Amino acid sequence: MRTPTVDFAHRTPYDEYVGTDVLHALLRPRTDEPEEPAFLVTTQVMELYFGLIRTELELAVRRLDEDDAAGATAVLRRVTRYLGVLTAAWSALGTLTPPRFNAFREKLGEASGFQSAMYRHVEFLLGNKSEPMTRPHRGSPETYRELLAALRAPSLYDAVLALLSRSGHPIPAATLTRDPADPYEPSPVVEAAWVRVYTELGPGDTLWELAEALTDVAERFSEWRHRHLMAVRRTMGAKIGTGGSSGAGWLERTMGRDVFPELWSARTAM
Ligand code: HEM
Repeated sequence: MRTPTVDFAHRTPYDEYVGTDVLHALLRPRTDEPEEPAFLVTTQVMELYFGLIRTELELAVRRLDEDDAAGATAVLRRVTRYLGVLTAAWSALGTLTPPRFNAFREKLGEASGFQSAMYRHVEFLLGNKSEPMTRPHRGSPETYRELLAALRAPSLYDAVLALLSRSGHPIPAATLTRDPADPYEPSPVVEAAWVRVYTELGPGDTLWELAEALTDVAERFSEWRHRHLMAVRRTMGAKIGTGGSSGAGWLERTMGRDVFPELWSARTAM
C-alpha cells in the first residue's frame, strides 16, 4: 500500500494551492471573547460564497444570452447547492446569546453585512436593483464602478425573459427594453408566460427545467434571508443595527421583495 508523500523541500503543495498562511492570517478578532472567532469565520465564509455565487450567476447570464438554457440550468443547480451551504452556515451562530454577542458587538463599530458589495452584486444579478444600495461603496472607486456596472446591466431574470421572448413567448416590449437599473415591475403577461411553461411543458423541456432551477435559487435565497433574520432576532432582538438601520424591522421589509416575482405569482394562476 502506498502512503502519502511527506517530504517537501518548501511549503506543502496544499499550502501553496489554498494559500493557508494568508487565509488564517485573515482571522483577526477584535476581542478575546470566545464567541467572536465563529462570528468572524461565518461572515468570511459567507462572503466567499457570495463571491462564488456572483461568478456563477454571471456565467448563467452568459449561457442565457447564448440561448443555452440547459447550460444556464446546470449553473443554477450549482448555485442552489451553494445557497444551501450558505444557509446551513447560520448554524454556527445558533448558540450566540444577546449578552455574549454584546461582549464584542461594540467592537464591530459601524461594520454591517449591509455594506457587503459582493452580496449586493448577487442581489443585483437576481434582479433586486436599487441605486441607493451602491452608495456605501462610493469611497472605494473600483468596487463602486463594478457595482454600478452590475446595477446598469441586465439581471439574470432580464436575461431569462429575453430568452423566453426569443423562444416565442410574448413578453411586453416595456419589460424587455426597461432601464435595467430601475427596480423591476412585475407584469401579468410575464406571469402568463410562466403559466404556459408549467401547463404546456414538463420535465425534460429546457424552459420548464430552467423555471424550476430559478425557483430553487429563489427559494434557497429566501431561506438564507430568513435564517439571517432569525439570527438577528435571536442575538439582538429589535435593537438598531450596527449599520444604522432599525434592524429586524428593516430586514423584514427587504425580505418582502421576492426574486423572480412572476415565477411565484404564476403558481396561483395554475
Ligand atoms: C449575529 C449575527 C448577525 C446580526 C445580529 C446581523 C445584523 C444585521 C442587521 C441589523 C442588518 C441590517 C443593517 C444594519 O443596520 O446593520 C444586517 C444586514 C445584513 N447582514 Fe447581517 N447580521 C448578522 C450576521 C451576518 C452574517 C454572518 C452575514 C454574512 C456576511 C450578514 C450579512 C448581512 C447582509 C448581506 C445584510 C444586508 C441585507 C439586505 O440588504 O437585505 N449578516 N445584518
